[in-house]
Amino acid sequence: MSLAQKFSSIGLNRDYSELDFQSLSPDIQGWGSTNLVFQRAFELVKPRIVFEVGSWKGASLCHMAGIAKTMDLPTEFICIDTWLGSNDTLWINPEFRKSLMLKGGYPTMFRQFIRNIHDQNIQDRVYPLPMTSSAAYHLLKRLGITPDLVYVDAGHEEEEVRTDLNLYYSALRPGGAIFGDDYSAAWPGVVGAVNRFAADNSLLLATGAGKFFMQKPAGTQAAPT
Ligand SMILES: C[S@@+](CC[C@H](N)C(=O)[O-])C[C@H]1O[C@@H](n2cnc3c(N)ncnc32)[C@H](O)[C@@H]1O
Repeated sequence: MSLAQKFSSIGLNRDYSELDFQSLSPDIQGWGSTNLVFQRAFELVKPRIVFEVGSWKGASLCHMAGIAKTMDLPTEFICIDTWLGSNDTLWINPEFRKSLMLKGGYPTMFRQFIRNIHDQNIQDRVYPLPMTSSAAYHLLKRLGITPDLVYVDAGHEEEEVRTDLNLYYSALRPGGAIFGDDYSAAWPGVVGAVNRFAADNSLLLATGAGKFFMQKPAGTQAAPT
């Protein structure tokens, strides 16, 4: 079954015609979304399926999709996000809060993500999954979808990053890689969780420019599905 068929089976047919997104202008704002680590990850793994855990407006997604296009890879992207700004900073900072597009007290920024992927003409390769990262992990496991590459940039508290790393590393195919954002003094929860995860799993941890990167050994047994 193709990814499109698997997503259709859970009611996600990627028909956005009922969503008011055409009235928005493209706004591809992100954080460290064009770092060189994306290019390196694609060169190393040549991913068929990428999970992005935390997409916001799609800046890092658009960059990765551009790399895939340049490399002529048929990469498909599963974007996991509540699109509720599930991070205190995104609510407290007035500029970021504006991006949430609150309507009646509820975020509607998913429309901006959809606007942006249409602007970049990558909507056919993108599968948004609007739920928490842990719910998405379990659902994707039940659908039998294995990523080659996972970009982790959702919750930034230590317990959130620890959970995302544990879940999504277990989902990753042997030889695949997991990497993410905000490995920096400003985000001690990310640093703590990543350091602990790498040590516990005896993984080589590469860091720099606020990113972290770990590859799953090719001989590792895949998680049972
Ligand atoms: C830092 S932003 C992602 C930025 C994006 N990767 C980029 O570079 O443009 C974090 C996103 O993670 C989402 N998020 C936070 N915690 C989450 C969780 N537990 N499950 C799903 N999404 C979550 C937020 O809604 C937000 O859109």
